[in-house]
Order: sequence, then structure tokens, then C-alpha cells
Amino acid sequence: MFDIKEVRKDFPILSREVYGKPLVYLDSAASSQKPRHVMENIKKFEETDYANVHRGIHFLSNASTDAFEMARKKVKIFLNANREEEIIFTLGATDSINLVANSLGENFFKKDDEIILTVMEHHSNIVPWHFLREKVGVKIKWVDCDDQGNISLDDIKNIVTERTKLISITEMSNVLGSKTPLKEIINFSHEREILVLVDGCQGAAHNIIDVQELDCDFYVFSGHKIYGPTGVGVLYGKFDILDNMPPWRGGGEMIREVKKDSITYADLPSRFEAGTPNITQAIGLGFAIDYFTSKINDGLFSYEKEIAQYFHNEVQGIKKIKVYGEKNISSPLISFTVDGTHPHDIATLIDREGVAIRAGHHCCQPLLKFLNVNSTARASIGMYTDKNDIDIFIKALDKAITFFD
Ligand code: ALA
Repeated sequence: MFDIKEVRKDFPILSREVYGKPLVYLDSAASSQKPRHVMENIKKFEETDYANVHRGIHFLSNASTDAFEMARKKVKIFLNANREEEIIFTLGATDSINLVANSLGENFFKKDDEIILTVMEHHSNIVPWHFLREKVGVKIKWVDCDDQGNISLDDIKNIVTERTKLISITEMSNVLGSKTPLKEIINFSHEREILVLVDGCQGAAHNIIDVQELDCDFYVFSGHKIYGPTGVGVLYGKFDILDNMPPWRGGGEMIREVKKDSITYADLPSRFEAGTPNITQAIGLGFAIDYFTSKINDGLFSYEKEIAQYFHNEVQGIKKIKVYGEKNISSPLISFTVDGTHPHDIATLIDREGVAIRAGHHCCQPLLKFLNVNSTARASIGMYTDKNDIDIFIKALDKAITFFD
């Protein structure tokens, strides 16, 4: 049974004060806080087992390698991937998408080939494709959403041509909180041999992920959004696809043989993990997955849904507020503006009440332009959010709105 009081005790940062007020952390969509389990086990690993991986024959190198490969196994189980070789450790979701874009690159894309993106994509799922547009001459085609962040398969069907090679799409909008119809899109794409990359940054934090059931070709997420450390993320790719992709970064450990005039590359996953990897962070991600999975098994997602609905109800009851994606009442994040007041001013004022939210364009400029707004404030929940947090946030928001009235 998910026990919010016990869970909150696991997150030391929640007991601190800011400006003399108890911290209310409503910025988990940007980065979630880490439980003691993750921080203590990282410390323990560094104090007892740390060494470089895959290189030495000494005791510590073997211990460290075992822990690193155990983390890969945990990610494989978390995503329900078919094989451990399908799990590549990266620096984060941004790095994962850059890896795919660079590795597929001109080997896969020719001038005038098409990549479809939705208008809801985060810049991390736009800019790497712009690089390919500049380098190879691919065309980026856009699918709009409706004002709630719904994507229609028909709109995708209308712009797909025989030159379409890839659809790269978010699982959940980090501004509107809407989920995309991934299964339908993937089924349709595969009938036409179009690859699908799923950006799971927000999705992985709030849904069960099963990449085999989804049948996506690539799935990416960041460790720091699922209660793990920064500096680590994952690229999942189907074995046969990854195995035919050339390496992107060159360096130690990603080779089979280096000669003066030729080179052959290592098998998966090493081929994509050049240099000393982010050993501690990857192992930390494994600890985060242990903790997160145990809370999912306790009923975390039903709890989150209940809190999210309370959150939406309360926010939507406030005067002068416009919520973007107001019908997504189970979404873990709420983007809003207050009539006549800049979102930064709102965020700054409620910060003084101890409440942390984000304001800005959320790295989604095409979406904000589509919504006809320059910036929004965004409050987002994590597993440790309780009703008291929401009540404090609502009071702070009310106070800020009255101040600027
Ligand atoms: N992508 C993160 C967010 O939406 C940083 O806030």
C-alpha cells in the first residue's frame, strides 16, 4: 500500500525550509528529488567498490563492472526490453536523441527524406533533427495538436509520404501534460517501415513502460526525472536496428581492434559507450529504479492520479487563471498563466512562500507559439507530493494574484 507519509520521510530535502517556510517542491517535471536510498547507496558504492569498469582484472574493477552491468539489467527489466544489449547508457535523454540522430545521420537519411515531429516536442527532440536538416537536407514536417495536446493519427497520415523515415514523438507533453497515442502511431508507422523514437522523459516518470508491447524502435529517458542522478540517461533501441548503426563517439572501449590504418568496432552496447562511462550515475539510476519500482508496486500511480485530480480542481477554481490543457485532469503537471501578470513574477512571488515551480517556455518554443503565449508558469508533482503541498501552493498563488491585482 502506497504510504505518502513514509515516502516523504525517504526524501531528506523535503524537511528543509526556504525563506523560513517549509519547502513545497512542485518542479518534479524539471528534475525530481532523490530518496535517501539512492543517495546512500551511491555513497556506499563510491566508498567501497568504485573503480573503472570493463578494464581491469583487479577486485575493485570487477566489483564496479558487476554493479554497472547490474544497473543495465535493472533498466532492461524496467523497460521490459528484450536484451541487455539494447540498453545504452548516455548522459541523458538529450544525449540519447543526439546519438540516434548522429548515428543514423547520412547513412540512413538522404536529402529530402522526411522526419515527422509534433509541435509539442521539447527542444531536445527538435534541435538534433535541425542539425540533420542543415547537414543532410532532411525535411522536418510538423503535426499540430489541439488545444489540449491531443495528436490525431489522421493528421500524421495526411503528411506521411514515401520519403518519411522517422517519427520522433514525446510520450507526454512537458507543458500540456497530454499523452500521445503511441501504439496507434507505431502500428501505422511500421506498416510503412517508418522508425519511431519515443521521448519518454515525462512519460517514464508516471507510467508503466513496456517497450516490447509498445514496439517502438527507440525509447529515451533521463535518470534525474525518475528519482535518480543527473548525468545519466538511457537509449533503448531494438537490437537489430542498433546493431546496424555505426558508432557516434569514438574512444576507448567502443572498439574491437585499432590499427594504424583501420578500425573495427565492439559489439553492443559498448559500441555506443566510448570512454570511461558515467559509472556512478548509471549505478545510481539502478538504485532509483529499485526504489521507484517498489513504489509503483505499492500503488504509486493510483495515488498520483488522485493528487493530480485534486491539484487540477483546486487550480481551476482560482480566478484569473488560464490553464493550458485544462481537460488533462489526471496529468502530473499544470501549465497556467494569470491574466495581466507575467509568469516569472508569479513564480518569483510564490517562491518567497517556499513553493518551487518553473516559469518560461519550458524548452518548447514551437508549442508556446502554437498556443500563442510567450511563457507559462508550470507546477508539477512527484511521488512525494501531498495534499498539503497543493494547499500551500494554492494559498501562495492566491496571495500572488491578489498582490498583482
Ligand atoms: N525538460 C525539463 C522540463 O520540462 C527540464 O522542465
